[in-house]
Amino acid sequence: MKTIIEPFKIKSVEPIRMTSRAERAMAIRNVHYNAFGLKSEDVMIDLLTDSGTSAMSAAQWSGIMRGDESYAGSPSYYRFEEAVHTLMPFKYIIPTHQGRAAEKILFSIVGGSGKIIPNNTHFDTTRANVEFSGAIGLDLVIEEGKDPQSEYPFKGNIDLKKLSDVLANHHDVIPLVMLTITNNSGGGQPVSMQNIRETKALCAQYGKPLFIDACRFAENAYFIKLREEGFANRTVKSIVQEMFSYADGMTMSAKKDALVNMGGWLALNDEQWAAGARNLLIITEGFPTYGGLSGRDLEAMAIGLEEVIQEDYLQYRIVSTAYVGQALTDMGIPIVRPVGGHAVYVDAKSFLPHIAPSSYPGQSLVVALYEMGGIRACEIGSVMFGKQPDGTERPAAMELVRLAIPRRVYTQSHMDYVIEVFEEISRQKDRLPGMKITWEPPMLRHFTAQFEPETF
Ligand code: F0G
Repeated sequence: MKTIIEPFKIKSVEPIRMTSRAERAMAIRNVHYNAFGLKSEDVMIDLLTDSGTSAMSAAQWSGIMRGDESYAGSPSYYRFEEAVHTLMPFKYIIPTHQGRAAEKILFSIVGGSGKIIPNNTHFDTTRANVEFSGAIGLDLVIEEGKDPQSEYPFKGNIDLKKLSDVLANHHDVIPLVMLTITNNSGGGQPVSMQNIRETKALCAQYGKPLFIDACRFAENAYFIKLREEGFANRTVKSIVQEMFSYADGMTMSAKKDALVNMGGWLALNDEQWAAGARNLLIITEGFPTYGGLSGRDLEAMAIGLEEVIQEDYLQYRIVSTAYVGQALTDMGIPIVRPVGGHAVYVDAKSFLPHIAPSSYPGQSLVVALYEMGGIRACEIGSVMFGKQPDGTERPAAMELVRLAIPRRVYTQSHMDYVIEVFEEISRQKDRLPGMKITWEPPMLRHFTAQFEPETF
């Protein structure tokens, strides 16, 4: 059979409230054209993020009932620790309430003024935590990773030549090197096993630990299986284990590839850093056997980690994301190629060439998607990255709109509807206005900035 069906049945449903175009035009105006301000009840298809939006399985909900809420030494913690250890062999595993809490703790310990953190591409919260500590976050993704049309299979790879130069010139101020897997800000593109191995070798040459920002590790592993020579017959589990065998630590947002609604962890081998991390954890998150989580959350993560590496699940996941990307490509809408794991990224700069980057073409498309179809998406362009630490504005490398697909939530007909809305927008795209910012906060402005459409 050539049809790949959703490898699950639906046991519990959540109604979607149907809205009219007039209602949506009013709703988006009332929140100053920032989709983060919308009430989710006013959204029909929510593609804002794949983070914390997964549908949990019956097994995970059963685990929730089993969760033990002891303050210290809960069996749920040990089940969680074992599930992580099976895939990621780090000595110290420190649960946190989500990924950025792990980042905050890590960079409070290793960051600081004058330090440099190289990465393929820092995600926005990672960059914010690096910069908040006073350090500089360097993005060193390969050139192909910045070209939306390049079909290179591993566009998340870090540029080893650039990394080697940075290490040679600045090794005294580099506490660790990071790889974000998959590279979310660069289009959800995977990093190859060879690149991870070679990054590790470079790090070892300078005695620097390699940390993985591992949010979408299972999707990355599946891409390695599909695209990298020598991995086709390997299990995803063994690929995951090999990926992490080259690392010395990781930060994790379990809201992605641990298939839960809240959770994360920091894992590492360095005893001193782990002691420092646990101290900060106790002040900010909680006792080390629960972090910022309930026992039931730890159970759900442990089960999610087993489910996410199932190949039926991953095949459905990657194929269903590619289905949307292919349909948009077929109607001539420019997207980041090849389609990433968790999202389709529309190249708003090419799609709306009449809107200059300084007028945020991505934000304009986000507003159109909502008004036209009740679809909520997220700008990843100059709104998110254009504001520099010194307060100046510089266009981002790409003006993207991300259609992030929640795990196990929407069916193919939901996605067919999304495709139809794009058909409609395509017909009217020349009439979409640029946007201007009327108010913004000092950091992470995309969450709360206020906009107005520009008049022609
Ligand atoms: N690193 C990456 C690569 C991420 O994509 C995210 C979150 C984080 C770290 C932080 O994790 O949200 O649990 O604190 N990404 C979400 C997104 C928010 O929509 O892509 P968190």
